[in-house]
Amino acid sequence: MYRPITETPVDESTPATHARGNPHHNESVNDNDSLWYKDAIIYQLHVKSYRDSNADGFGDFRGLLEKLDYIEQLGANTVWLLPFYPSPLRDDGYDISAYEEINPTYGSIDDFRALLEAAHDRHIRVITELVINHTSDQHPWFQRARRAPKDSPERNWYVWSDDPNKYAGTRIIFTDTEKSNWSWDPEAQQFYWHRFFSHQPDLNFDNPEVVEAVKNVMRFWLRMGVDGLRLDAIPYLIERDGTNCENLPETHQVLKDLRAALDAEFPNRIFLAEANQWPSDVRQYFGHSDECHMAFHFPVMPRMYMAIRKEDRTPVVDIMRQTPEIPEDCQWAIFLRNHDELTLEMVTDEERDYMYREYARDPRMRINVGIRRRLNPLMDGGRRQVELMNALLMSMPGTPIIYYGDEIGMGDNIYLGDRNGVRTPMQWSADRNAGFSEADTAALFSPLIVDPPYGYHTVNVGAQERVPTSLLRWMRRLINVRQEYKAFGRGTWEPVDAANRRVLVFIRRYRDELILCVNNLSRFAQYVELDLHALRGMVPLELWSKNCFPGIGDLPYLLTLGPHNFLWFRLMPPEQAKSYQRST
Ligand code: NOJ
Repeated sequence: MYRPITETPVDESTPATHARGNPHHNESVNDNDSLWYKDAIIYQLHVKSYRDSNADGFGDFRGLLEKLDYIEQLGANTVWLLPFYPSPLRDDGYDISAYEEINPTYGSIDDFRALLEAAHDRHIRVITELVINHTSDQHPWFQRARRAPKDSPERNWYVWSDDPNKYAGTRIIFTDTEKSNWSWDPEAQQFYWHRFFSHQPDLNFDNPEVVEAVKNVMRFWLRMGVDGLRLDAIPYLIERDGTNCENLPETHQVLKDLRAALDAEFPNRIFLAEANQWPSDVRQYFGHSDECHMAFHFPVMPRMYMAIRKEDRTPVVDIMRQTPEIPEDCQWAIFLRNHDELTLEMVTDEERDYMYREYARDPRMRINVGIRRRLNPLMDGGRRQVELMNALLMSMPGTPIIYYGDEIGMGDNIYLGDRNGVRTPMQWSADRNAGFSEADTAALFSPLIVDPPYGYHTVNVGAQERVPTSLLRWMRRLINVRQEYKAFGRGTWEPVDAANRRVLVFIRRYRDELILCVNNLSRFAQYVELDLHALRGMVPLELWSKNCFPGIGDLPYLLTLGPHNFLWFRLMPPEQAKSYQRST
């Protein structure tokens, strides 16, 4: 559970001791705030899908730059960019063929620099991808390795074997496409190891030259000024016989080594761990504050979906109880959807069956061990359900990540291959190509979502800008309210027990901020009686309206909520609440 970090607050005013490595670095992003990632609202997007500035059908950096105002207005203060490096794009860019270049379809290094500078001017930080577990088989390192003699230093940059039964205890991740973690290379006359697609050979992290090369890649982007690196597929760096080849101590050693390199030169930059593992295993990726600053909380995500569909808070409360404490300067990253399938690896078999039954009736909605759909269709287009899920995203412990397009309720296309159905072009307007591109429609990198009810003619930014009650404008307010209180990003999470299990209640506490969150998971109105006697005398201030509710007394505190409603209160001493009280 969560130790109250109020007991020993971290010093937030620690001045930066080094200047940034980048001579062009813009001072507009506050260098002194070493815990910035705790107060962040992250917006995740693919440059390719966002906005095409040169009418070639692919989004690009210039296009993204045009749209920074939109991101700023949404209230996001950090952008996470999916891979934009040269790549055969057989895994949408996670198959990298050159680490220190930009895919020319998306622009040039100068365009990337311009984007960074413009983002920093707006106080928006930028997180990019460090994909180091594997490369594309087209990467020169792999081409060199396969041609080099067996057991030579060059061959040794990847993981080879003559025996495809080695490391037999290792699961397959892409179960729909791969039969083995080994593939035969006719050129090398050996098998090579790959945890993902067979065109993505794993680098050999037992080789110190590989670790050094990866550090140089890291430094290259940090020197340019990126604020954080998402460490893709980080549990799989090292392989050992007789293990499942995940989360090994040697893998953590590599991470500590990378972190030391980060800290030596780049204060206030962060690592975000992608470790799709159980909470106790993910805990290890924070180390003693000497590995990653942040890590995704994968297991809580499907449980939010379970809770709302079961109308029962138990799945969320249970997983939070299993969530260990993390070091004070570390942080969870939470999300509802992302560019991948809604992963069901961190649930029991029974829970997986439930999720498939409820959320993926059509087999086309399923891929690998997960569901390839977006948030709005998962909620059957229910506005109240979408709002409640977003309210949970913004109030559960950790830094929230919004997947582009979910803020306007975009739909998906389950007829596209792989996970492409949730990666379609951003819907800016009802104009041609949804305002995404001026290219011929046939030239777009992906079909647009056109069918009702999620087609771009109705679901688009322009339309939602004009309607005060739109989801987009509601999302802006939600983010605004959250950002008024540090407790959401930094506070403890304390569940409040109530007899009615259809209501999920918790308190977020940080210094003098005490926030009570009450969520009705049910499609019907509910009441809940809360034992708040420990907070007797406090006055609840409803955060959206700034209305004072009746003070907390000796009796159980009674609240009623409409279907899928939520309420956020700041609990204040009466003297502080006075300024908000008004006669009705
Ligand atoms: C994790 C990424 O999120 C996913 O999109 C990718 O396919 C795998 N890593 C393999 O690179």
